[in-house]
Formats: sequence, C-alpha cells, structure tokens
Amino acid sequence: MKSIKEAGPLSGKRVIVRVDFNVPIVNGKVRDDFRIRKALPTIEYLKNKGAKVILIAHLGEDEKESLEPVAKALKKYTPVLFLKESIFSQAIDNAILEHKKGTVILLENIRREKGEKDNTSSFGRALSRFGDIYVNDAFSVSHRVHASIIGIPKHIPGYAGFQLLDEVKNLSLAFEPKHPFLFILGGAKFETKVPLIKKFMRDADKVFIGGALMNTFFKTKGYEVGQSLVDEGNFGIPKLLKDEKLLLPSDVEVAVGKTHRCVSPDQVRDTETIVDVGPKTIAELQAVIANTKFILWNGPLGKYESGFGGATEKLLKIIASSKAQSIIGGGDTVALVDKLKLEKKLGFVSTGGGATLEFLAKGTLPGIKALK
Ligand code: 3PG
Repeated sequence: MKSIKEAGPLSGKRVIVRVDFNVPIVNGKVRDDFRIRKALPTIEYLKNKGAKVILIAHLGEDEKESLEPVAKALKKYTPVLFLKESIFSQAIDNAILEHKKGTVILLENIRREKGEKDNTSSFGRALSRFGDIYVNDAFSVSHRVHASIIGIPKHIPGYAGFQLLDEVKNLSLAFEPKHPFLFILGGAKFETKVPLIKKFMRDADKVFIGGALMNTFFKTKGYEVGQSLVDEGNFGIPKLLKDEKLLLPSDVEVAVGKTHRCVSPDQVRDTETIVDVGPKTIAELQAVIANTKFILWNGPLGKYESGFGGATEKLLKIIASSKAQSIIGGGDTVALVDKLKLEKKLGFVSTGGGATLEFLAKGTLPGIKALK
C-alpha cells in the first residue's frame, strides 16, 4: 500500500477519502466520536497540503439513516459542507466544482445508493469522477467488498490514509508478538471467531475465552448453561478443551430477572442466564497479566449490550495499569475504553469490529488489496 505521503503534490487536487463514520447516534446526537477523531490526522494533512477533501462514509446497514448528526459532530473539528443529495444529482457536481480549500465536503450515507453494496463497476466509476485520487482511511470497513472501498481505486490512484496505516502496523504486531502472549476473546458469534481461536491457540501462550463464546465451551463440557446464548455447530471444541493454553472463567455472574449471583460455571441453574465473568476470574487474569508481555483482546467479557460491562471495565483498568503491550478491538470494548478515558493508557485501540477479526485471521482485507 502506498501512503498518502507518496501521492505527490496535492495542492488543488480533489481527494476522495473513504472514512468510517459509522458511529453510535442517540437522540440525533453522536454518542462516541472515537472513529471521527481517528480520521482527523488524514483530513488535516490533506487540508494543509491544499487538497480539496471529499468524504464518503456510511451509517448503519441500509439507506434509512442520515449522516447529518455526524456532519454536526465533525464541525467541532473542521468546517464541513454536508451534501444530502444523491451522488447522481447535478447539485453534487456543482458543489464539488465550487469546493473551497479548507472546507471538507461530506456526502450523504453512501449505503443509500444501491450500487455501493452491490459494488457495480458503473457505480465505482461514478464515484471516482469526484476525485483525482482516492484515499482509504476506513480500516474498519475494509473487509467489505463495496464500491467505495474497492471500486473507486480501480479508476483513480488509491492511497492509504494514516488511520488505515496505523491499524495495519499495530494489528500486525500480533503476527510477531512478544511472549508471553495472552489472547482474550469475548463477544458472541462463534462462527466468526473460531478461526481466530484456532490461530491464537497456535501463536499465543494463553487464550482466555469470555463473552457468549464461553457458554458454548461450558455446554460442550456438559454443564448446565440455563437460558444463556449458545452457538450450535461443529466448532471442534472438544479438542480445544484439551489444550493447556485454553483459559475459561472459573466463576460467572448469572441472572434471573433482577436477581444476580456469582457461581462456579458448573453450578448454573436452568432458569439462569450467564451475563458476565466473575471477580475470581478477573483476579486470576490479573495474575496472568502480571507475567504477560503482549495482550490482544477483542470483544467484551459479559453481556455488555444489556448493561453487563462490569468485568470488561475492571479488566481494561488492569491492562491499562500493566506493563504489557496491548491491542484492544471490538466496538463494545472500544466504547468502554472511551467511557473510562483509557485510550492513552492502552497500547493501541482498534476502530474495527469485523474488520479487525478478519485482518487478524487472514493478514489482509479486500480494501487493503485494492490499494496494492
Ligand atoms: C463497523 O461498524 O464495524 C463498520 O463500520 C462496518 O460496518 P458494517 O458492518 O455495517 O459494514
């Protein structure tokens, strides 16, 4: 990948920048602008070089949501001209023609356009007409085979922005890690995480499993898991259970309605739901971390979306005050990093969810290949 620093003179050039502004919006306001802040170094660099910056982003899965709240949040950092029209309208061409240096243009949610997800070549070409060059600064969308990720650089020269380069550099540390190396995996969706579990069972020294993933391990061990989320499928868990590198929680928090208790994983009742890992487990992890040099963590340890972020918060604080080099990823974990203001105390915080998992498993992404 070529960096934008290799793009030659930029003064007066129209630069299309694909950013990831897929941020949480609550009551019409951006709740967490971590991803917006991560795109600022590239935007500022291009502006300072005299380029005309045109930002493309998406929000949510489909065409319903508008990037208007994002435009407002971005205005805190730079003047923005938000264009709501379809990219095929004359108004967009006119605005780009009259585009003044110093102001960035933000186009409306690109997923409103059918050609984006379908990645039609005519749509990629239509988007490319806005720019002289293309910059991908959206690592966290680079696993998507969409027109704004892989289509545009087929038509105009493509470069990597600082955020994308930073993600690749830091996540690649996991391919040549310091040892002892602890891999922590939480969240749900077993099928997307099995390749990572298998990879890091080979490459790491310890692999800790939390989140809803742990339930499937417990069920395979023959434990009662009550109402907890379990993934059915042939994931090769019996073999993993025999591996000495595998660490499973030694206690879990369970809930029935508002009643909670912490128990050993083999003491869960059929009416209960496992919602988090327990304090004994966190203390055990703290002891492991004291002797660890490299930590890679993706996904929360508990049912964060239902308010069970307690163990994840405690573990984040432990890692932040440890000497281990750390890489943290996964949308929910990152939201907690932001809430606890721990970003500067942790090694690297990845903007990616699915993209981070896929990059760690495969060492590349479609959006990265498209720039090569
Ligand atoms: C993300 O939030 O992980 C990225 O913005 C990608 O979003 P998507 O899963 O809707 O493609």
